[in-house]
Amino acid sequence: MLHFLILVAVAVVAVYFANRFAESAVEYGYAKSVGSRAGSMRQLLNTYCPSLVDKRLARMVPTPFLYTCMMQSLYSHSLFSNIKYNRELFVLSDGGTVSLDWYPGPDSFGGRSTPIVVAMTGIAGGSKEYHVRCVAKRVACDRATPCRFVCMNFRGCARTLLTNRRQNDAVNTSDYREVVNSICERFPEAPVFGVGFSLGASLLTKYLGEEGDTCKLTAAIAISCPFDLTVVRRMFNAKTYSQYLPFERNKDVILSGDQGFDADTIRNCQSMADVERIFILKDAGFKTSDEYYNAACSANYIDRIGVPYLSINSLDDQITPVQGIPFDKFKANPNTVLALTEHGGHLGFLTGWQPRIWYLDTVAEFVALGAVAGRKSGVL
Ligand SMILES: *[C@@H]1O[C@H](CO)[C@@H](O)[C@H](O)[C@H]1NC(C)=O
Repeated sequence: MLHFLILVAVAVVAVYFANRFAESAVEYGYAKSVGSRAGSMRQLLNTYCPSLVDKRLARMVPTPFLYTCMMQSLYSHSLFSNIKYNRELFVLSDGGTVSLDWYPGPDSFGGRSTPIVVAMTGIAGGSKEYHVRCVAKRVACDRATPCRFVCMNFRGCARTLLTNRRQNDAVNTSDYREVVNSICERFPEAPVFGVGFSLGASLLTKYLGEEGDTCKLTAAIAISCPFDLTVVRRMFNAKTYSQYLPFERNKDVILSGDQGFDADTIRNCQSMADVERIFILKDAGFKTSDEYYNAACSANYIDRIGVPYLSINSLDDQITPVQGIPFDKFKANPNTVLALTEHGGHLGFLTGWQPRIWYLDTVAEFVALGAVAGRKSGVL
């Protein structure tokens, strides 16, 4: 009897793994036309990105006990990877402040031409998040193309005090533009790469489209990008998520009225939607939420991206669902690649018994690809 039970248990586990393995292959797509003198995107991927191309490596088998989107996403929040950033406060032209967390410090190692990766986090996120630290470590320690890493924390996020009444929103890319411009001026010989997570990925994508052929970035990678914010919108307004919004974290500053916020109006808000309408939309220059969310759709900017661009998305991501992914736009622009996994959740992508992030090698490889094929090398 015991033997029988063990046999059944083993069979169940085996079937489970066979299933997970069978559906773990990473799909990737790109436009067929030739993109650059360095070769088409297909040739570049074949040379530089084994983690996407090699059938044995291009698998995202989810951690056995983290097999749903929510488990992946929540568990990844509980993980910890310790690195010490060097913080620099960056005052923007309108008087607002973002913080730049460098790893290692801007002056600590490397030559003047050491590549720099400039990251943007998700809504109300920060450089301390597990995936941000892992990417920082991975690109800084890469043997082939070691980089400096810097994470831009949004206004009011990651213990960055609000220094004027302007908030970060989902549409305006000018903070990131100012930071990238300043870094390019400070390190004129260094190729600069963009990495974005979640909302940061959406802003990065929008920025790339706005800059088009004159973009200062050499290449960029978007992870769990919500391409269509009208699809994501319900999640933002759900009560459980509201605590993550910068508003909640900066309540003290905002309600003190010191920065010119209308504290009473905000105090009387009944819902997150109210706060958004009064507090974000007005400052961002929009009359209605619809107008705001439409303007925030980064999908509309993909056709104008002029540098190598990789987006990594999971099909079971509930926060940025697959309905929002603009497959046609990726097929039409030879600079863009879309890598899709079956599992991974939102910013999860945890694989192995001891959970680790699957896409770290892919990020490092794509940086190496960009260093060869990107604009600064004069090839694209
Ligand atoms: C974006 O924000 C900056 C800084 O506050 C502001 O100067 C600019 O006008 C905004 N852009 C748009 C399109 O609203």
